[in-house]
Amino acid sequence: DARKKLVAGNWKMNGLAASAPEFVRIVGAYQGAMKSGVDLMVFPPFTLLTSFATATRGAGVGVGAQDCHAKASGAHTGDVSAEMIADAGGQAVIVGHSERRADHGETDADVCAKAEAARRAGLVAVVCVGETREQREAGDARKVVGGQLAGSLPDNADADHVVVAYEPVWAIGTGLTPTVDEVAEMHGFIRGELSNRFGPDGAAIRVLYGGSVKPDNAKELLAAADVDGALVGGASLKADDFLAIAKAAI
Ligand code: G3H
Repeated sequence: DARKKLVAGNWKMNGLAASAPEFVRIVGAYQGAMKSGVDLMVFPPFTLLTSFATATRGAGVGVGAQDCHAKASGAHTGDVSAEMIADAGGQAVIVGHSERRADHGETDADVCAKAEAARRAGLVAVVCVGETREQREAGDARKVVGGQLAGSLPDNADADHVVVAYEPVWAIGTGLTPTVDEVAEMHGFIRGELSNRFGPDGAAIRVLYGGSVKPDNAKELLAAADVDGALVGGASLKADDFLAIAKAAI
């Protein structure tokens, strides 16, 4: 359905072959009662993508990668294209995560090109935006997020190809979160920006919240107005925690 809640786990640079049973446990639990209530996706490191895609075959848990190159192939040592991710069994790719914006200097234009590559390859792009602590304290959070949305989303963005993740940088991995009111306020703003630019197509795009989502705060964050799911980092590494967050979305 449009805007059925989506809980996505970003494993970041974590996970070895020995972590596969955690994922298999997630898949097993999801197949039961959860499937009708929530969409689930896991974004392991590239090295585990194929084995996770095989493990979830037909079970409904989506898998994806954490980044892609904008080109389909070529002389780009160390990079992986959206086409390769699709070929490995992925259905989605995270683009523009703040760690990539910060660590690899990715610009909004880079992120937009990657989102377009995802669509070309038949992948959903999870496009990340979010302000730093300094930007929020300066009262610039909306301006920053609005600018990132304007620059990072392709003109043909729609709900079948794009998910937006709002991740305040200061909330990532810190245990800090905005208040529920602050989350609702920013998600309302993002919803408005999407509707203004893309019309009904934009109104259907899911907007996830990310940043220190845990089993004990998931229920209230996921219930905030205009929150269509969560992008979970640290807590997605343990099957029990991730499944508890997924249940909180139902
Ligand atoms: O992509 C996920 C986010 O960066 C959130 O990470 O849940 O560890 O704070 P976290």
